[in-house]
Amino acid sequence: MAINFENDFLFGTATSSYQIEGAVDEDGRTPSIWDIFSKTPGKTYRGDTGDNTCDHYHRYKEDVELMGKIGIGAYRFSISWSRIFPEKGKFNPKGMEFYKNLVNELIARNIKPVATLYHWDLPVWAYNMGGWLNRDSVKWFVEYATKVFEELGDSVRLWITHNEPLCSSIFSYYEGKHAPGHKDLKEALIAAHHILLSHGYTVEEFRKFNFKNREIGITINLIPMYPATKSKEDIKAASISDSHFNRWFLDPVFKASYPEDMKEIYKEIIADFNFVEDGDLQKISVKNDFLGINYYTRELIKFSQDSDLKFKKVHGNFARTEMDWEIVPEALYDLILRLRDEYTKIPIYITENGAAFDDRLSRRGEVRDIKRIDYLKRHLLKVARLNQKGMDIRGYFLWSLIDNFEWQYGYSKRFGIIYVDYKTQERILKKSAFWYKDLIKTRIIK
Ligand code: BGC
Repeated sequence: MAINFENDFLFGTATSSYQIEGAVDEDGRTPSIWDIFSKTPGKTYRGDTGDNTCDHYHRYKEDVELMGKIGIGAYRFSISWSRIFPEKGKFNPKGMEFYKNLVNELIARNIKPVATLYHWDLPVWAYNMGGWLNRDSVKWFVEYATKVFEELGDSVRLWITHNEPLCSSIFSYYEGKHAPGHKDLKEALIAAHHILLSHGYTVEEFRKFNFKNREIGITINLIPMYPATKSKEDIKAASISDSHFNRWFLDPVFKASYPEDMKEIYKEIIADFNFVEDGDLQKISVKNDFLGINYYTRELIKFSQDSDLKFKKVHGNFARTEMDWEIVPEALYDLILRLRDEYTKIPIYITENGAAFDDRLSRRGEVRDIKRIDYLKRHLLKVARLNQKGMDIRGYFLWSLIDNFEWQYGYSKRFGIIYVDYKTQERILKKSAFWYKDLIKTRIIK
C-alpha cells in the first residue's frame, strides 16, 4: 500500500564535522580528541584518520550542489568546537566563517540548515583540563554554544546540542572504543552527566535569543533491547541493558531522574553518585522543542554471569548490514510507540538512519546499492505508518549524505548515498541517491 508524506515533512541527510571535513589544521583549528585517538596505533582500522577524509572543508560548494540535485530539503551537519574555540576562551572568526559560508550556500539552494553542536570532537585543550570529567566542561560548552548562536542563530532552522550522549560517554569512557578510549564506568557516568547538564544550560541560553521559528533539542541514539528467550533471567537482562543504553539518557531528559534499578546496579561498581548536584536534574530536563532519534538496529540480549552488568548481546536471525547490525525496521516502529507512551509528545525527528553495505563502483562508474535502497525503503515505510497513526515525526535525516570516516572502522564502511573515490575525491551518486530523489519528489512510499 502506498503512503504519502505530508508536504512539510523534511527529507534530509546527515554528516558530522570530523567524519567529512578534513583540513584538520587549517584556519586555526586545533586538534580534537579524535585526531589524537585516530593517530594512536591500533585504535582505528588500518590507522585511518580524518586528516583528509572527503575534504568537505574545501569542497562544500560541490557537496551542497549535489544535495540540490537530489532535492534534499534539510541538511544536518555538525560544528567542530576546536575550529570555533581553538583555545580556551579564544574565539576564532576564521573557523566560524566556514560554517557561515556553508549555511549561506544551503540557504541559497533552499536547503534548511540543521546544526549539531557536539558530534564527539572534544577539543584537546578541553580534554587536557579534564574534558567531560571536569564539571567546568559545562561552562566551556555553553560559552562555545552561545557564541555559535550569536553568529549563526537565526539562519539555522534546528539546533541539536548533543549527538548521541551514549556514545560520547559509555562508548568513549567505559567501553573505550571511541575517543578518548578510557575504560572506567564511573568516568562514563560522570561524562554522561556533564554532557546532559551542558545540554540543559545550553537550551536555557538559546531561549534568551528569542529566535523566531528556530528550535532546539537533543539527539539520543536508541537501541531497542529484546530478550533472547522468554526466561526470566533474559527478560531481566534485556531490561538492564535497556536502562544502561537507553533509559540512562531518556529518563533524565524527560523525567528529571536516573533509572533507580540501574543506579542500584551501578552503585555496586562505582560506590556513589556525588557528581550529581542538587538542581542538576531539573536543568537537564529543560523543555525541548523536539527530540532527535538515531536508529540503526536492535539488540538481542541474554543473561550473562561473567559480565559486570550481567548481560551480553547475542546474534539474531535477521539479515545484517556491513556493520553486522541486524536490519529490523519493526523495532523502530515499536520504539516510537514506546516513546510516545512512556516519555514525550514533542515532535520527533529521525536525525539518523541508514546502513553500510559493500558498495562497488562498476566499470561503468555506477554503484548499484540495492540493499541500501531496500533498507531505507523499509524504514521510511515504518515512519510513514507511524505518522498515519499520529506519531508526529517531522523529518528524516538519512545517514549519510556521503561516504566518510566511520570512526574506529575508518574508511572500511560506506554509509553514503554518494560514493567517494578517496584517491581522487570524485563524488558519484549511488543508485540510492536517485531513489531518494524520486521519493522526495513524489512523497510517496510503497
Ligand atoms: C553516529 C555517526 C556514525 C553512525 C554509523 C551514529 O552513531 O552518530 O557518526 O557514523 O552512527 O555508525
